[in-house]
Amino acid sequence: MREIVLSLFLLFLVQYVKSDYSPPTREQFQSCLSTNHSNSTFTNPINLTNYKTDSRIFTDFSESSSPNSSFSNLNFTSLKPILIIKPKSETEIKKAILCSKKLGVQVRTLSGGHDYEGLSYLSQSPFIIIDLVNLRSININLTDETAWIQSGATLGELYYKIAKTSKVHAFAAGICPSVGVGGHISGGGFGTIMRKHGLASDNVVDARLMDVNGVISDRKTMGEDLFWALRGGGAASFGVVLSWKVKLVRVPEKVTCFISQHTMGPEMNKLVHRWQYIGSELDEDLFIRVIIDNSQEGGQRSVKSTFQTLFLGGIDRLIPLMNQKFPELGLRSQDCKEMSWIESIMFFNWRSGQPLETLLNRDLRYEDLYFKAKSDFVQKPVPENVFGEVTKRFLEKETPLMILEPMGGKISKIAEADSPYPHRSGNLYNIQYMVKWKVNEIEEMNKHVRWMRSLYDYMSPYVTKSPRGAYLNYRDLDLGTNKGINTSFEEARKWGEKYFRGNFKKLGLVKGKIDPTNFFRNEQSIPPLF
Ligand SMILES: Cc1cc2nc3c(=O)[nH]c(=O)nc-3n(C[C@H](O)[C@H](O)[C@H](O)COP(=O)(O)OP(=O)(O)OC[C@H]3O[C@@H](n4cnc5c(N)ncnc54)[C@H](O)[C@@H]3O)c2cc1C
Ligand SMILES: *[C@@H]1O[C@H](CO)[C@@H](O)[C@H](O)[C@H]1NC(C)=O
Ligand SMILES: *[C@@H]1O[C@H](CO)[C@@H](O)[C@H](O)[C@H]1NC(C)=O
Ligand SMILES: *[C@@H]1O[C@H](CO)[C@@H](O)[C@H](O)[C@H]1NC(C)=O
Ligand SMILES: *[C@@H]1O[C@H](CO)[C@@H](O)[C@H](O)[C@H]1NC(C)=O
Ligand SMILES: *[C@@H]1O[C@H](CO)[C@@H](O)[C@H](O)[C@H]1NC(C)=O
Ligand SMILES: *[C@@H]1O[C@H](CO)[C@@H](O)[C@H](O)[C@H]1NC(C)=O
Ligand SMILES: *[C@@H]1O[C@H](CO)[C@@H](O)[C@H](O)[C@H]1NC(C)=O
Repeated sequence: MREIVLSLFLLFLVQYVKSDYSPPTREQFQSCLSTNHSNSTFTNPINLTNYKTDSRIFTDFSESSSPNSSFSNLNFTSLKPILIIKPKSETEIKKAILCSKKLGVQVRTLSGGHDYEGLSYLSQSPFIIIDLVNLRSININLTDETAWIQSGATLGELYYKIAKTSKVHAFAAGICPSVGVGGHISGGGFGTIMRKHGLASDNVVDARLMDVNGVISDRKTMGEDLFWALRGGGAASFGVVLSWKVKLVRVPEKVTCFISQHTMGPEMNKLVHRWQYIGSELDEDLFIRVIIDNSQEGGQRSVKSTFQTLFLGGIDRLIPLMNQKFPELGLRSQDCKEMSWIESIMFFNWRSGQPLETLLNRDLRYEDLYFKAKSDFVQKPVPENVFGEVTKRFLEKETPLMILEPMGGKISKIAEADSPYPHRSGNLYNIQYMVKWKVNEIEEMNKHVRWMRSLYDYMSPYVTKSPRGAYLNYRDLDLGTNKGINTSFEEARKWGEKYFRGNFKKLGLVKGKIDPTNFFRNEQSIPPLF
């Protein structure tokens, strides 16, 4: 206890006596890591060879690059991390946390590295990165249909392992295989079977968390409020999630997929408009999302809509269902394909026919690709002419994207306060907006971000208001950011209630208990409330 108090005191000293503070060097940090602390739990010596900076992550921090790295999405210049640590054991994570606390540097926990604003590997304050890449074992137990997953694993690794273990099990989570379970599950997790089984975070049954003192707790010992907060509140505010225990779900051996693609125009606007009425009302086995993007054919830019569908059943059942609920799409059985659930994951990633092993590829990079994303929730169908205006705006851009994902089903059956993710009953669908560009220049960024903000403004009459809803996993720093360690909770409500609505206050109270000194913080972490 004395040691905790002492290091807290040191932390304050380091944070507040600014003039005396200069960040530790890499050598100083390494020296702290290798010190055999008096606490008897620190007997495991650390092999420093494991600790080195590398450039697996998307921004290049290699030795030869300049000391600071910029990343367009963030609109700030990030410092270079003092160290990138890739722990091979939980004890090493503990050392990294305690040394960071002692030396007054921040921690960025990195799982899959897909954060939309780079918060898992960029910071304006001196920091280290704890990269969980070496802690990614997955243990499936078919007897109770659960899996323990270390949080450095990716969705692709999880899906692959499930598919190799069972033909009738799956996990309800996102589509892209290189997304990490560390960030994804703690931020919600939309996927193709969410209408039947809920979000990824709705399927968590236990979790192991390391807190600011390096103490590990599980569901039983952390208490239900903290366990609640981890399931959708963004774990980065509370500590480092070491592993999740999740409920696997049953899927039929055969599922059906189809895509139906159309060029935007009056007819298409009608189809998308119509989809709004049925997307969230359909049988829970049926997931139809809409992707609106540009295509370039014969030098001619046009806007197209793609209905991308998974049905948890065979073609025979799907066709009558579609004829009854969405005859406008004119689906025929020859447009559909039956496959296993894991093949449907490949299908949704445009990888049909490739070996399943491609799911294990963690190296999805955004080299030469920058983007800005935003999100909305829709409760009343948007008028048809709005899709006409969206088309007009899309035609101005090279690579804009909108993904409309249906809610309803299981998502709506869970009460708003049952988990931090609040966008439940009453929401028809989520919109994700994205615009991409290739040149990392301020001017270029400003141009595209301005376009995105203008589209977002244009959409404001048609989406949820007061607060306007947003999805944490599509992180958007435009909504507001913290101002350092002393950010007031009141100020943070501006963006916090967009992600969490009425659940934000409880998240603040949980934060106040588990991390009162606000050690685990970033531009959009939950400020402590007492
Ligand atoms: C190509 C792509 C496809 C996507 N597809 C989907 C989709 O289908 N459905 C969907 O819902 N979302 C999707 N997303 C969004 C994705 O869910 C979020 O970006 C998610 O937070 C990524 O998790 P990560 O572990 O990969 O990211 P990271 O950048 O590693 O982490 C994200 C945040 O979580 C924190 N964090 C990570 N691990 C831990 C841990 N163990 N303990 C505590 N905090 C931690 C980080 O510090 C950071 O704040 C997609 C994103 C991309 C880039
Ligand atoms: C020191 O060890 C004790 C007993 O294991 C533990 O309760 C305490 O949290 C540890 N202190 C630190 C600073 O890790
Ligand atoms: C660390 O301390 C423990 C207990 O005091 C001791 O047994 C161990 O040998 C020490 N390890 C090193 C590397 O000094
Ligand atoms: C440290 O790790 C490296 C690489 O894994 C290994 O070659 C070296 O022998 C290790 N050193 C010690 C002291 O264990
Ligand atoms: C790096 O960033 C820091 C803090 O913003 C700044 O003081 C420093 O001048 C920058 N260094 C370079 C080489 O840009
Ligand atoms: C799997 O779960 C069952 C039921 O909870 C339990 O009895 C068994 O020990 C578990 N198996 C393993 C390997 O953990
Ligand atoms: C980036 O930050 C600068 C200075 O804070 C601001 O003027 C500019 O509008 C920002 N650009 C974007 C795209 O947010
Ligand atoms: C944070 O708040 C404390 C107490 O109110 C104050 O002393 C300190 O100067 C503040 N620190 C910063 C960085 O603003």
